Amino acid sequence: MPDIQSIIESKLSTAVAAAFGSDFASADPLINPTRDAKFGDYQVNIAMGLAKKLGQKPRDIAQAIVDNIVLGDEVEKANIAGPGFINLTLKQSAINEHAEKMLGDSDRLALAKTNKPQTVVVDFSSPNVAKEMHVGHIRSTVIGDALSRILAFLGHDVIKQNHVGDWGTQFGMLVQYTINNNMIKHVTQRGMLKSINTIYQESKKLFDEDKEFAADARKRVVDLQAGDQETKDIWKELVKASEVYFDDVYKRLDVSLTLGDIRGESFYNDKLPQVIEDLKTAGLLKESQGADVVYPDGFKDREGDPMPMIVRKSDGGFLYATTDLAAAHYRIEELRADRIIYVTDSRQSQHFAMVFQTLREAGWAKDNVRLDHVPFGTIMGKDKKPFKTRSGDTIKLLDLIMEAKKRAVDILVKKQPDMKVSLAEEIAHTVGIGCLKYADLSSDRIKDYIFDWDRMLSFDGNTAAYLQNSYVRCMAIFRKGEIDPGSLTSAKILAEHPAERAMVLKLLQLPQVLAGVAEALEPHRLCNYLYELASLYHSFYEKCPVLKSEGETRQSRLALCLLTARTIEKSLGLLGIQTPNQM
Ligand code: ARG
Repeated sequence: MPDIQSIIESKLSTAVAAAFGSDFASADPLINPTRDAKFGDYQVNIAMGLAKKLGQKPRDIAQAIVDNIVLGDEVEKANIAGPGFINLTLKQSAINEHAEKMLGDSDRLALAKTNKPQTVVVDFSSPNVAKEMHVGHIRSTVIGDALSRILAFLGHDVIKQNHVGDWGTQFGMLVQYTINNNMIKHVTQRGMLKSINTIYQESKKLFDEDKEFAADARKRVVDLQAGDQETKDIWKELVKASEVYFDDVYKRLDVSLTLGDIRGESFYNDKLPQVIEDLKTAGLLKESQGADVVYPDGFKDREGDPMPMIVRKSDGGFLYATTDLAAAHYRIEELRADRIIYVTDSRQSQHFAMVFQTLREAGWAKDNVRLDHVPFGTIMGKDKKPFKTRSGDTIKLLDLIMEAKKRAVDILVKKQPDMKVSLAEEIAHTVGIGCLKYADLSSDRIKDYIFDWDRMLSFDGNTAAYLQNSYVRCMAIFRKGEIDPGSLTSAKILAEHPAERAMVLKLLQLPQVLAGVAEALEPHRLCNYLYELASLYHSFYEKCPVLKSEGETRQSRLALCLLTARTIEKSLGLLGIQTPNQM
């Protein structure tokens, strides 16, 4: 059985076709739950969009649709409102029945998989080798992880790609430094990232200050590119040590990336000359001051001249863009991607726009391949400047993770002084990491957001702690009433009280919300949905006694508590956030 909103959508398009012919049937209606029950359950905006095409007044169009809609088993009544909206009231039986379906499917909450499954490559996290991950990496990692989980849940074949920066001239100095200081043993000991970070800083300093070292480092770059064995071996160890460290960070963050998802820049190294050849064949390659460039259509520099994207420097070196062209080619040809999603900060927007345009012009990405850049803003401190430590250093991701946990322990122990410290620590992981991630996911990703520990860890407001606590409270009813939640999976739902009805309508909205996230690639839509759901739950709980009610009403209300809890749990899970059993 399709979800209720899809049924309404098809009823509307059938009505449009009956009134105006099938050419107009595909007009995408906007179906929004109403804020006030006196306007029915849904407000539909469809007539305004059709008015222009049909050259008729929106109210007349709305009236024609209302006259033609088949109410069937789902719709109680339809009337026109305002300048041309259609207000729909659902049948009580339909609401109950759809909620029962959702309740009966603990795994998918009756959410059908997409009938158009795609192979979706999601390129995210992508930190750089030999550098510690910092606060800037959290956004790509957390947003990309949530999008991957949601797309997979909807039935797509998701291929995660961690495009780590593991190649480039900086490895000349890193390898040289490692050799000069006989540090290879250090590096090969797993988890020695601290020393790698030191290697990075110290070799950079030497590179800038010591001419002899800089010359040796430059030669090392050539050796590395030529495949010199010793150089390559050390490079590999540096990469491996970093990967172990990334993996540790991902585990601590409950991020689903594994070592198997890493396909670093070096993977494309031997494919870069071919990129240049293919660009030449496609007639796109131009020369500019000794360098090879392309001029993707539509990009102009400040003077209004066509803007070049360099693909090979005059010294023969390849660039970030060249690697991205090779990677996209590989993803389309080898991984058979229908859609490629890149999650990076918005400063790379132009880079991706130029890469995408080049891919189109070269014919490597045909129209049936969708390319999405998912840009996000900067994390700011309370002073509205990029978030830094007091001394002005960048904040390490590991430090943030540790602090989130520590603060969560403090909060939990203060709330429940008799909670065992070991238990508090366990819950603090779920709550602390959950809040850290949720703060990021719940803000409109394109905007900068202000990092504020107190706000993100608050038990009130749109936070993970509030939702996790709502979940715990839903489930506490079962403990209190000594009821096995499993006994309710086939309960009858009677969502009759207005507070029940409002909550159930919200529950039934989940498929549209997830589809919207997958389309717009905006996890915050799911966060807002959850926040609204939890608020509706709290008003339901206030107005509708659960344990004190009787008979079928009691069973139905208990079932609604369970369904809400599962929806919160499932949705948080899709955002990469766990739910505790108590807090
Ligand atoms: N390593 C890059 C950085 O730290 C991000 C890579 C993003 N992905 C890509 N295909 N370019 O900025």
